[in-house]
Amino acid sequence: MQNKTFSFMILAAGKGTRMKSNKPKVLHEVAGKPIISHIIDKILSIRNNISIDRISVVLGKESREIKFYIENNYKDIDIIIQNNQLGTADAVLATESTFKNYKGKLIILCGDTPLITSKLLLDLRKLSKNFRLGLSGFKATDPKGYGRIVLNKSNQVSTIIEENDANNLQKKIDLCNSGMYISEAKLLYSLLSKVKFNSKNKEMYLTDIIYIANKDNIKIGITYNKEVESLGVNDRKGLAMAEKEMQNILREKAMKKGVTLISPETVFFSIDTKISKDVHIEPNVVFGPGVKIGEGVRIKAFCHLEGVTIKKNCTIGPFARLRPGTILEEYSKIGNFVEVKKSKIKKGAKVNHLSYVGDADIGSNVNIGAGVITCNYDGVNKNKTTIGSNSFVGSNVSLVAPLKVGSNALIGAGSVITKDVPKNMLAVERNKQVTIKKRNKK
Ligand code: UD1
Ligand code: CA
Repeated sequence: MQNKTFSFMILAAGKGTRMKSNKPKVLHEVAGKPIISHIIDKILSIRNNISIDRISVVLGKESREIKFYIENNYKDIDIIIQNNQLGTADAVLATESTFKNYKGKLIILCGDTPLITSKLLLDLRKLSKNFRLGLSGFKATDPKGYGRIVLNKSNQVSTIIEENDANNLQKKIDLCNSGMYISEAKLLYSLLSKVKFNSKNKEMYLTDIIYIANKDNIKIGITYNKEVESLGVNDRKGLAMAEKEMQNILREKAMKKGVTLISPETVFFSIDTKISKDVHIEPNVVFGPGVKIGEGVRIKAFCHLEGVTIKKNCTIGPFARLRPGTILEEYSKIGNFVEVKKSKIKKGAKVNHLSYVGDADIGSNVNIGAGVITCNYDGVNKNKTTIGSNSFVGSNVSLVAPLKVGSNALIGAGSVITKDVPKNMLAVERNKQVTIKKRNKK
């Protein structure tokens, strides 16, 4: 391995007690994606800019859920176990046997910073040109909870004081530690060997390596990041803050791309939402993961979409729910109080009012009347409904699947259709109406 290669370690073994959750902190989601995944994806996104040898994630012994998530979603990520969670320095020490002879540079990140940017990572890398050890810091609007970076008279980093150990004067320092570092491996482990147990908090602080390096006359580089980039999620309030910041970023990105948001603050995206230009979105729309939207689509107020692909010029809502596996082809329309699940709605088809369409294939230019239900579940299996192009399904029809309706067919309102309907036929299933004379009122 040469000198210009890098390896990353993400510290994610912490107990996350402040989250008060059964779920590990780093698996909580921001914009529909686990926090840890935001960090791994950011590292992977700079693969073309820097040469990366390894990406390691440090986990606690009991973090089976995180390990499972990583192994299922990524290849080539090492899991390193920290046996007892004795603090951030101890977490890095757990990586010693993996990296002690490593000749590249090590970049240390925390697992709880979902808003990390590629710029921050590349800035850290730049530091390594001139410094054997460096870190990223930021000016905080509210520094509470972060370690404070103390500079000496010549503005060099001299030490980091953790919130719990800071006196009132030190608490006023607004230059904070982002928890992201770059170091030569050998230097890192030699500094770590000198870190002592913090008796007050019963932890070994990684931040102590800064003080020790400074004492050993090792110059420490510093790069500055924006506050949001290193926002650390420690509790539910932090999670909500991270979500808010991320949503603002995603809204801005969408608008820059040519998407109209009538009321941006009420629209919620997932990190993977793909929206083309000239999409028009009314207030209170939520995009769960896996949504792709083509040009010219209009989404009216109060819609929820997840795992759907919408081709050009469709209209959706108001109050529509589009569930995973749904594909809307060009110019199709989904109206108010309609739920669509795992169905294909072909070109120009309309499902305009109060319907449930599940496991269905709706042909082009089909009209599905108000209140039509595909009865797709028989209590055991999910069954499919297919409707050929240009067919018309009257209001309040129950389509009992499995069912095939040919093209150009007509189904009378109120029918419960249990048998296939061939093309060009009219099917009605309905009791005959009785119209008789009213009894006279006495
Ligand atoms: C840490 C820094 C603080 C910095 C802040 C930035 C220390 C002592 N303090 O504080 O200076 O301003 O991050 O967000 O480093 N972890 C382990 N094993 C452990 C303990 C923690 O892997 O034994 C992991 C956690 O999962 C987490 C990361 O290390 O992802 C940071 O730990 P956390 O407890 O969140 O540290 P902070 O109190 O936020
Ligand atoms: Ca933290």
